[in-house]
Amino acid sequence: MEDMRKNGVQVPDLGVNIGSLQLANPVMTASGTFGYAREFENLMNLQSLGAVIVKGISLHPREGNPPPRIVETACGMLNAIGLQNVGVDRFISEKMKYLAALKVPVIVNILGDSLAEYQEITERLAGVPGVSGIEVNISCPNVKKGGVAFGTDPAMAAAVTDTVKKKADVPVMVKLSPNVSDVTLIARAVEEAGADSISLINTLIGMAIDLQTRRPVLANVIGGLSGPAIKPVALRMVYQVAKVVSIPVIGIGGIQTAEDALEFMLAGATAVQIGTANFVNPGVSEEVVEGIRAYAVNQNLSSISSLIGGLQLPGQLL
Ligand SMILES: Cc1cc2nc3c(=O)[nH]c(=O)nc-3n(C[C@H](O)[C@H](O)[C@H](O)COP(=O)(O)O)c2cc1C
Repeated sequence: MEDMRKNGVQVPDLGVNIGSLQLANPVMTASGTFGYAREFENLMNLQSLGAVIVKGISLHPREGNPPPRIVETACGMLNAIGLQNVGVDRFISEKMKYLAALKVPVIVNILGDSLAEYQEITERLAGVPGVSGIEVNISCPNVKKGGVAFGTDPAMAAAVTDTVKKKADVPVMVKLSPNVSDVTLIARAVEEAGADSISLINTLIGMAIDLQTRRPVLANVIGGLSGPAIKPVALRMVYQVAKVVSIPVIGIGGIQTAEDALEFMLAGATAVQIGTANFVNPGVSEEVVEGIRAYAVNQNLSSISSLIGGLQLPGQLL
């Protein structure tokens, strides 16, 4: 991390380290909201990103749920896409070449219905050029255990983490579900199982009803709530998790502006991911990077990482 001055003004270092993964800045795109990055190449400068996280990849291609699959809600949206994706083999053969040529780290989000599936995907991704990290979505149902999500049980979350870690040749980030009563139990379990970092939150489970038809709006009945509506919940969970683990934490949930991102960093996040906001403004991530830079200049920070966990609690203000 260099301390540079330009015309007497501090040029801040926006770099952050997620374990061994070095990012030029703390802004990543959240899985499922940025396609496979190419979709955004004419809408923004992809090189401005700290990292790209691609749509969740499963062992076999998935068609996802029938429509309607998304609905707008107050300050957010519900989605029940059903993890539609091209499957790991087509992802590697059709998408990775383009992604590997980007000058930013690419993190592959993976999902599975069984431990064997998580293992198989990780094995296939090992050695693929351009893959800088794996993000493990544990919000998926475990078909062998009656459909209970891996992410809601500490032992199951640990088992997925351990399985992926044993086969991965890149750092492993485990993405937590907020649909639990105590997220710190899951966070500690995945840290103990070897996770290199933790990202949170995935979507909160919600529902919308059409009064005219008296039917659920989503064909799947329930869906995942995202967007600004969930930011306070996400911020609270990041704060709680960052206090109990010693691995880096990545904040996700309702981030739309540099100010939102900086709040997550003060709460303990080393980096952030931007999701739903990409649908509103495809160039938002680049704008957030610039906003973070402006804040760092304004605050005369030599390094943005000095902000991580810098929240001033009432007792410490005295
Ligand atoms: C349309 C849509 C698709 C998503 N797909 C995935 C996915 O494939 N894997 C995953 O881990 N999270 C997925 N997510 C969750 C986001 O990555 C993110 O965790 C969540 O939306 C909260 O962030 P946000 O409020 O900034 O959108 C998806 C979210 C949306 C809105």
